[in-house]
Amino acid sequence: MSNQSLFERAQRVIPGGVNSPVRAFRAVGGTPRFITRGDGAYIYDAEGQRYIDYIGSWGPMILGHGHPAVLEAVISAAREGFSYGAPTEREIELAEEIIKLVPSIEQVRLVSSGTEATMSAIRLARGATGRSKFIKFEGCYHGHTDALLVKAGSGLATFGHPTSAGVPEEVAQHTLVLEYNNLQQLEEAFQLHGKELACVIIEPIAGNMNFVRAALPFVKRLRELCTEYGALLVFDEVMTGFRVGLHSAQGHYATLLPGFKPDVSVFGKVIGGGMPLAAFGASREIMKHLAPLGGVYQAGTLSGNPVATACGLATLREIQKPGFFEALATKTQFLVNGLKQVATENGVPFSVDSQGGMFGFFLMDELPQNYQTVMTTDKERFNKFFHGMLDAGVYLAPALYEAGFVSAAHSQADLEATLAAARTALR
Ligand SMILES: Cc1ncc(COP(=O)(O)O)c(C=O)c1O
Repeated sequence: MSNQSLFERAQRVIPGGVNSPVRAFRAVGGTPRFITRGDGAYIYDAEGQRYIDYIGSWGPMILGHGHPAVLEAVISAAREGFSYGAPTEREIELAEEIIKLVPSIEQVRLVSSGTEATMSAIRLARGATGRSKFIKFEGCYHGHTDALLVKAGSGLATFGHPTSAGVPEEVAQHTLVLEYNNLQQLEEAFQLHGKELACVIIEPIAGNMNFVRAALPFVKRLRELCTEYGALLVFDEVMTGFRVGLHSAQGHYATLLPGFKPDVSVFGKVIGGGMPLAAFGASREIMKHLAPLGGVYQAGTLSGNPVATACGLATLREIQKPGFFEALATKTQFLVNGLKQVATENGVPFSVDSQGGMFGFFLMDELPQNYQTVMTTDKERFNKFFHGMLDAGVYLAPALYEAGFVSAAHSQADLEATLAAARTALR
């Protein structure tokens, strides 16, 4: 069985051969690897090739593949039944665990995907404020809800246009798209539209434009403006949640801006440990608007699924063990610093950043601050590097605008093997 033959077969029955576009390798070219299994820090393809995995299912696999405690929890939950469509104690436990670790949240609703969670968070913000419009930032991805598949209009006075066919212009009309980290634009947008805004949604560390942090003054002012104008600040922590630190990106910003809290938070990925599970949460005051308490409707057949919650709970328990994030951050820093050094030795422009177990690297001298700059990356050079690494058994994200992830299962030997591969690939 070859990756190529599977890809050809897949394309006959699945559009583009994949169930999520980036998996098709369109950005980097070549044949997607069809994965047969994962084990610790490794994934294996249909041809038996082993890869050191820096995608980790795009974030969830913070413990690596097949962690014994997680596996045990999942098998034991599966034996008790896959789904009941009725409440379970495990849902309460998972909600309690999330709330314990994220002080801005008093109540949480579990759903099945990040898309569903951000969609519901926007609806909640609209329902709670009675307003329709909201702000998002260029380069941040919040899932594929219609109102979020929107690009900037021609100026701050005009709202957005759809980025996807099938999204009506009318749906994009309420979404204002601004440049990430652009304080002046933010000020102007609030002056023009502040009183009509239900919320501002942001990836606090944007992992969908590789790795771009929201600058501290930007976050500070964003918080102030939202409070002043009565718009809710929605932190989309689907990627950063329990990945950049035990208290997520908001915990990191709270250490730099004492008292900082978003109004609504969205989680996914790590809280499901690789199973379909996501969540959104806020204060009781905000969450009371949600059905069955309030008028904002939201529901799901598989929401709070017993096997998924078992997987998520076991994962969250592991990452709370003493020293977990320190060790993860040390590994990640070793990797990015090593990559930077290898690039410097080869005279390749390179900048790196990381937080906890999430990292980014750019083939440019300075870390970019927004999407436009990210997209000036030398694409050919990135693609060559990507394929060089893949051929050497290192699986990086197959697009220059995606973040990377290190897991607790990555060993020092894995990291060093990665740097050795980079030494050749960057030559
Ligand atoms: C920040 C962010 N929000 C939302 C989503 C959507 O999550 P899902 O793919 O589970 O629908 C993603 C997915 O990568 C994401 O990175």
